[in-house]
Amino acid sequence: MNVYDSEQIAKGLKALEYHLTSSLETADLIIVNTCAIRAKAEQKAFSFLGRLAAFKKKKPDLIIGMGGCVAQQEGKKILKRLPHLDLVFGTHAIGRLPMHIQRIEKEKCRIVDIEMSEALVEFGSTVTLKPTGKATSFVTIMQGCDNYCTYCVVPYVRGREKSRNPENIIQEIQNLVKSGVREVTLLGQNVNSYGQKEKLCSFPELLQETNKIKGLLRIRFTTSHPKDLSEDLILAFKDIEKLCKHIHLPIQTGSNRILKKMNRKYTRESYLQKIERLRHICPDIAITSDIIVGFPGETEADFKETLDLIKTVEYDNLFSFKYSDRPNAASACFPSKISKQEKNDRLQRLLELQEYFTLKKNKALVGSDQSILIEGSSKKHKAVNADHEWQWMGRTSTNRIVNFSQTNDDTSFNKVPIGQLIKVRIEKAFSHSLWAKPIRIEQKSVGLKGEESYAA
Ligand code: 5AD
Ligand code: SF4
Repeated sequence: MNVYDSEQIAKGLKALEYHLTSSLETADLIIVNTCAIRAKAEQKAFSFLGRLAAFKKKKPDLIIGMGGCVAQQEGKKILKRLPHLDLVFGTHAIGRLPMHIQRIEKEKCRIVDIEMSEALVEFGSTVTLKPTGKATSFVTIMQGCDNYCTYCVVPYVRGREKSRNPENIIQEIQNLVKSGVREVTLLGQNVNSYGQKEKLCSFPELLQETNKIKGLLRIRFTTSHPKDLSEDLILAFKDIEKLCKHIHLPIQTGSNRILKKMNRKYTRESYLQKIERLRHICPDIAITSDIIVGFPGETEADFKETLDLIKTVEYDNLFSFKYSDRPNAASACFPSKISKQEKNDRLQRLLELQEYFTLKKNKALVGSDQSILIEGSSKKHKAVNADHEWQWMGRTSTNRIVNFSQTNDDTSFNKVPIGQLIKVRIEKAFSHSLWAKPIRIEQKSVGLKGEESYAA
């Protein structure tokens, strides 16, 4: 979500002739987009912003702004804490950012804008028609959240749940496709309730419309709340051709007692039933999840239920977090907090268990043929002898990272194959990625030259 917001921030500032740079030293404007979901993310943001004081000292005209959820949460207190900051803008103020920057340029003033609106925040221009060199993109379909899980800060910093109009979403995706994008990830805190409040179309209907977009090859979405995962959405994994075979379905804990305290509104049993149904409809679907360890009052027995659930589901991957108190979140006042040491210990045990399943599932793919969409050069690319081969990175439909190399005399690929869908044979499996040998192109022509370059 923050990646998408940062892209909207960059687009807005482009209109003021600011361009992205990778160097903090040469920047005239630094915007730090912050995340408040866990205490650690907030600490990181403040420590990074603190270090920017030295840059401002060297270059007094430098403008520094802080946006996102921490900005929304802390508001004007931040100006006191960070005297070198010029601007604090909240999650609903992204559209007003260019206006604030212009004022700061002219008046050298300090601004705080954390106003939240009841209305949906449509960003100014979302049009991107020029090739961007990117094969994948995020698209926000809804904002905010009404679920109030007791540990979570999101409803307080992002406001009430609001869905965007399907027409605007489809238009945005069409424009992205024209710029070379081949895969979109539809974003919302709980996509399953998309459109319900506003009586728009349902989320599965939105998927069907997205599926019709010419030139788009793949659709992903995140996140689906288990309590609202509908039969229609489960069936979408069979019926919607471009929908990738992956669902992120956060369980948070395997203990019914803790689920209740978290206000998650489902049980371990109903969750497991949905997993079974998903696998029945789409046998090779990848399932990933989020888990919080050390929620207030979590006993060793509760934690063992989480480990047991992981063994039952055999997730393809897990994102696990140590519980931290968040401002306004109800659980901040819950008794029986778990010690730091206990949380570390539980996290370690959980990570070790999941590592076994991740590797087991990756290893099972060795020897199989997979379709991957090429996203860019692999992380190790620069270490490879660039005269003789290139290393590329793509993802399977199940969201596994696959690296492979292409030699210079290999003419079966375009020089820059970003956006191409190719068939590969998996040769090696690691914990976080797979290594493959390319076999053939599945969809001709690279999608980065404009509208005619795709063949869908
Ligand atoms: N402490 C730890 N983890 C949290 N998450 C959300 N709030 C907290 C918190 N207070 C985790 C949840 C959520 C993911 C995005 O972050 O697992 O699904
Ligand atoms: Fe937070 Fe729960 Fe909403 Fe997810 S569904 S954003 S965890 S309140």
